[in-house]
Amino acid sequence: MAAARIPAIVLLALSAISISTVVPSGGSSSPSQSSNTDLAALLSFKAHVSDPEGVLASNWTTGTSFCHWVGIFCSRRGQCVTAVELPGVPLHGSLSPHLGNLSLLSIINLANTVLTGSIPGNLGRLHRLKFLDLGRNGLSGSIPSTIGNLTRLQALVLEVNHLFGAILVELLLA
Ligand SMILES: *[C@@H]1O[C@H](CO)[C@@H](O)[C@H](O)[C@H]1NC(C)=O
Ligand SMILES: *[C@@H]1O[C@H](CO)[C@@H](O)[C@H](O)[C@H]1NC(C)=O
Ligand SMILES: *[C@@H]1O[C@H](CO)[C@@H](O)[C@H](O)[C@H]1NC(C)=O
Repeated sequence: MAAARIPAIVLLALSAISISTVVPSGGSSSPSQSSNTDLAALLSFKAHVSDPEGVLASNWTTGTSFCHWVGIFCSRRGQCVTAVELPGVPLHGSLSPHLGNLSLLSIINLANTVLTGSIPGNLGRLHRLKFLDLGRNGLSGSIPSTIGNLTRLQALVLEVNHLFGAILVELLLA
């Protein structure tokens, strides 16, 4: 295999100048539409993991607003997910491509959650994403080139996986 190993930890500090031309997403969806989209994305995320300790099974129930689910943080006003933080929770599964629909997401911390499979290219749609930690998992495949679209990304942690690919150039050009 000619695949180059990526550095153990990639930490990127992008200058404010480089993000000064971020184009608004131009979406015209109402808050409740985006709330439904966020709910569907989280349920898909849940469905993609087997959750052997039942952490999500007992807590991520549709009787409660997802803003009160463990590991989920929402925008101050409204029902939009801004952070998914479940480090160390044994999820055992893959990352749902639906995560790319969480349009206000700025933090993903799924370090050490026994994730396998590949990183969905749809994560490149999360244009507010500042922090992405998928370290200490069993993820494999190539790092999607769409990650280079994440112009606000300040920290990217992918240590201890089986990933290969070259994204640094795209990120630094973003
Ligand atoms: C889910 O977990 C959160 C955070 O630990 C807690 O505040 C909430 O009450 C739990 N909800 C249910 C339905 O267990
Ligand atoms: C969300 O993402 C999935 C997978 O990328 C896609 O199939 C779906 O149509 C998207 N939109 C909504 C509103 O869930
Ligand atoms: C994101 O990245 C891909 C691949 O690098 C590119 O084709 C696409 O135009 C970019 N922009 C968006 C909004 O997805």
